[in-house]
Amino acid sequence: MREHVSIIIPTYNEAENIAAIIPKISEVFTKHAIDGKIIVVDDDSPDQTWKVAEELGRRYPVKSVRRQGERGLSSAVVKGFEFSDSDIIGFMDADFSHPPEQIIDLLRAITADGADLAVGSRYLDEGKISKWPLYRRIGSWGATLLASPFTSIKDPMSGFVFFKRGVLEGVLLNPIGFKIGLEILAKGRYRKLKEVPIVFKDRLYGESKLTKGVVFEYLKQLWQLFREVETPIGQFIKFCVVGAAGLAVNLIIFSACLYFLHFHYLASAVAAFFFALTSNFILNRAWTFKVQKKGGQLSVRIQYQRFLFVCLFGLGVNLLTLHILHAVFEHHEILSQLLAVLSATALNFFGSKKWAFR
Ligand code: GDD
Ligand code: MN
Repeated sequence: MREHVSIIIPTYNEAENIAAIIPKISEVFTKHAIDGKIIVVDDDSPDQTWKVAEELGRRYPVKSVRRQGERGLSSAVVKGFEFSDSDIIGFMDADFSHPPEQIIDLLRAITADGADLAVGSRYLDEGKISKWPLYRRIGSWGATLLASPFTSIKDPMSGFVFFKRGVLEGVLLNPIGFKIGLEILAKGRYRKLKEVPIVFKDRLYGESKLTKGVVFEYLKQLWQLFREVETPIGQFIKFCVVGAAGLAVNLIIFSACLYFLHFHYLASAVAAFFFALTSNFILNRAWTFKVQKKGGQLSVRIQYQRFLFVCLFGLGVNLLTLHILHAVFEHHEILSQLLAVLSATALNFFGSKKWAFR
């Protein structure tokens, strides 16, 4: 197997680790006949990691990048992307937390199993975290939970990731903090993803750079991801906000028709329904399903017709549920109507998302 691969290793004070890991990675390259390059992106470490990498470059396929006046794991990895021209790109830690022998497992997921993106995962059954203290396990679990709207994989916090170059084509990454992997999972363009179980080991030399500031940066990254990437949860919240605005529109138009135009109250309700429907349509199209709309091929007219159909169907479900709960199961009217509205809203949401604004 000859593949053109580059592996980016961000470093800060990793002189001893980098001196040990580069020969190991080269060994893996040789053993599996991989045409590979290692790109070390060092933030001008006081222990001169960049210099060690540079010297190793005489014997091994290493490019040493010394970045001055900037710090940060994710931004260092993104810097490394600039220096890679390979078909497959990966990144990993310098400290042997990610076993070099397992590079081949991630590469095979791409070259043999056809994945676009391969993530070394600590939480698959066979993967193990050796000796982590309880607080770190809990922190890692909480961070993973917060990332769940963006990806359903088990270990989105992983720093051991390989992917095909095209995954990042046209993608604007926001490299704050540590979680460059999550950024790629949330924004990258991939069809097939594979999680590969890895044995995460304790670092060989030196100490972790994971500080309290990293938690703050992570929350900042999540906040920005929520604003940039459309998730089903975010869409549902927006859909409900639009629904509430629609209710206000409905009541205003209803009163206007009733008191100023002296319509019959049923006619007023029909007029109010169509006004609210239209304003909901405009808001959902421009806001709730904005990103989705860009990719869709449906014309505005068809979208409007479908949205109308979804809303009428929703009304039908509302009335039917209300009737069944109240008349058949003898629940209180208000409780019955509440449950009926909730089920109609859920139905409207899925109909809009999957069909009208597809
Ligand atoms: N260039 C650069 N700049 N590199 C950095 C910086 C920085 O500011 N901070 C850390 N690194 C490098 C380290 O030198 C190391 O090679 C790698 O990034 C990971 O840093 P560690 O300090 O070893 O992080 P960790 O072990 O606490 O975190 C690991 O586990 C996390 C899962 O909880 C990493 O694999 C993370 O990516 C992973 O999310
Ligand atoms: Mn580490």
